Amino acid sequence: MNIIELDKQYIANTYARFPLQLVGGSGSLLKDEKGNEYIDLGTGIAVNTFGAADEEWINAVSEQLKQIQHTSNLYYSIPCTRLAQLLCEKTGMKKVFFSNSGAEANECAIKAARKYGELKKGKEAYTVITLKNSFHGRTITTLSATGQDVFHQHFTPMTPGFVHAAANDIDEMKTLVKTHACCGILLELVQGEGGVMALDKEYVRQVEALARENDLLLMIDEVQTGNGRTGSLYAFMEYGITPDVVTTAKGLGGGLPIGATMLGERVQDLFTAGLNGSTFGGNPVACAGAISILSRIDDDLLQQVKEKSAYIFAQLEGAKGVKSVSGMGLMIGVETEKDASEIIARCMARGVLAIKAKNKVRLLPALNIPMEQLETAIKILKEEIAK
Ligand SMILES: Cc1ncc(COP(=O)(O)O)c(C=O)c1O
Repeated sequence: MNIIELDKQYIANTYARFPLQLVGGSGSLLKDEKGNEYIDLGTGIAVNTFGAADEEWINAVSEQLKQIQHTSNLYYSIPCTRLAQLLCEKTGMKKVFFSNSGAEANECAIKAARKYGELKKGKEAYTVITLKNSFHGRTITTLSATGQDVFHQHFTPMTPGFVHAAANDIDEMKTLVKTHACCGILLELVQGEGGVMALDKEYVRQVEALARENDLLLMIDEVQTGNGRTGSLYAFMEYGITPDVVTTAKGLGGGLPIGATMLGERVQDLFTAGLNGSTFGGNPVACAGAISILSRIDDDLLQQVKEKSAYIFAQLEGAKGVKSVSGMGLMIGVETEKDASEIIARCMARGVLAIKAKNKVRLLPALNIPMEQLETAIKILKEEIAK
């Protein structure tokens, strides 16, 4: 049996996989089992920040593996503490809770908001406002936070305490604040799974003001936008706001599972011993890798992200077959006249890997993708979009 048949037999049918088996790679060049090469514009959905087999990351991870692979949270561990320090120093947040995925990072944020609501306004103030078209994870509670009905089907009842406002509509958000006993607002600044849509800056500043006026936690889901993806270390910096909670995952680990919930000044001491936990959270190997990733996302790299982003926008905006280009930094959605899935399949046949978000071609290349490879990939993508 080949791998596709075996997979169909033994793996739960939750994924619609591309007919491709990736077995190796270096940077933004990936290889299938036959030795064919692909330029990667997907990075495992914004995870492989510095591409495949990044040497510094491998060294950091292997050095830690040789020391100890896991300690549990019953003991102190240097990589975990150092990563938290680095995150706080780079963001101005005060404390970090580590978990293993974006969904868990958001679960922790929601717990923080509920505890904050209880403390400030009483037990009934548990509602979190999120946006329509958002995506916050696959656990029942983060699905409830997700403002897309399609994800709720078959799994009702959802966790109570979530209402959804239309993106960029401050009046609807104000109405929801008035009509519900709320504890927080949770936003993706660039909706990733929802079609790579960046929120308006003025709207986000109005939401921040609304949160302050009503003593609500402003929580930013940077699971996909974080760690340099949008051209700033975190997208909230691009928007000039000061969140109370920032969640991240994906690119922070550079390929190993990690989730981080960063707590700002108002909530830094909200959690006390026993209020949250995770067996693998803060795993030393994942944290050692994350330190190597985070410490290399400097101004120089972020400038390169911005320049590569400008290049992609300039190439694709107004190109034949392109309806619109959206997003920020190296998180880009391309709305095409022809079917995006077919374009992606043809690109794959020509050695370029892109992915989908809603009806768009989504591009999430490594932050350090060499310009030459990016140019080749965009040329092929453009040709396939134009067909
Ligand atoms: C914005 C956002 N939040 C949360 C998640 C869930 O992350 P994970 O799959 O690591 O649980 C995702 C995943 O795509 C995401 O894009």
